[in-house]
Amino acid sequence: MEEVLEALAPQPGQIVVDGTLGAGGHTGRIADLVAPDGFVLAFDRDPAAIARAEKNLAGKCVQLAHNNYSELLVTLGEIEVERVNSAMLDLGLSSDQLADRERGFSFASTGPLDLRFNPDEGESAAELLQRMPEKALADLIYLYGEERASRRIARQIVARRREQPLKTATDLADLIRRCFPKQRHDRIDPATRTFQALRIAVNDELGSLEKALKEYPQCLVAGGKLAIISFHSLEDRLVKTAFRDDPRWEPITRKPITASETELEANPRSRSAKLRVAMRTEVDL
Ligand SMILES: C[S@@+](CC[C@H](N)C(=O)[O-])C[C@H]1O[C@@H](n2cnc3c(N)ncnc32)[C@H](O)[C@@H]1O
Repeated sequence: MEEVLEALAPQPGQIVVDGTLGAGGHTGRIADLVAPDGFVLAFDRDPAAIARAEKNLAGKCVQLAHNNYSELLVTLGEIEVERVNSAMLDLGLSSDQLADRERGFSFASTGPLDLRFNPDEGESAAELLQRMPEKALADLIYLYGEERASRRIARQIVARRREQPLKTATDLADLIRRCFPKQRHDRIDPATRTFQALRIAVNDELGSLEKALKEYPQCLVAGGKLAIISFHSLEDRLVKTAFRDDPRWEPITRKPITASETELEANPRSRSAKLRVAMRTEVDL
């Protein structure tokens, strides 16, 4: 949070985009800095995040958009704003989503294995697991989950679904754990990587990021900054490459900023976070 605020340096009167509202931590802080004449345009695909923010951020200089952050250009047209001063994306899932036992994000979820940020859009993880051919499933788990046991897991999923569909997160987590020898003492649960892969797939997370990296230059003023916190090496690679190769971006961070010791202690989930910042140049394509 502090590094993002330092990079964007929001000023009174500015319009700032928070593409990933979540629990509204960043949005709330930025809204205070741009008040009273500026505002934060905050996106989230998750209707629950929007509903919570309507309550928690009531009275703040915030405009909420229940939409994909990759739709910024269209949204700006709708609200008749030409360009914004800066933007941020804090990718992945929120603590609220992880804590919600009904949506499949946590392994302890006994609700449906859904994993969609917006449960009204696209197909759920349970549906994807039911229809995808074994090879494609293994590739997906390997690529997005960086899971070396992807083939073994895909084989077990296909064998299981012939008998009975996998319906809940606990169904899937138990199946994955059985694919690993018992004595393994991993720091993280062996199901983590497969859940991450499925979440990235059902939400087309890399597709949204790629579109935003291409379109945000048309939405930012020259000199405006874009800060992106990513949690996955494929995401970080997309950000790094776009900031380096697209002349409309000038990278500000040569190396990604990672969480400080203090932040790691307070928030262990920040261990894989990488922050990169770029400035919108004067170049137009
Ligand atoms: C890591 S959380 C953000 C936390 C937030 N910065 C805070 O301070 O609480 C990520 C949020 O982004 C949302 N999200 C992920 N991908 C999205 C997308 N493509 N468009 C809009 N929202 C997205 C998720 O639903 C989730 O609520």
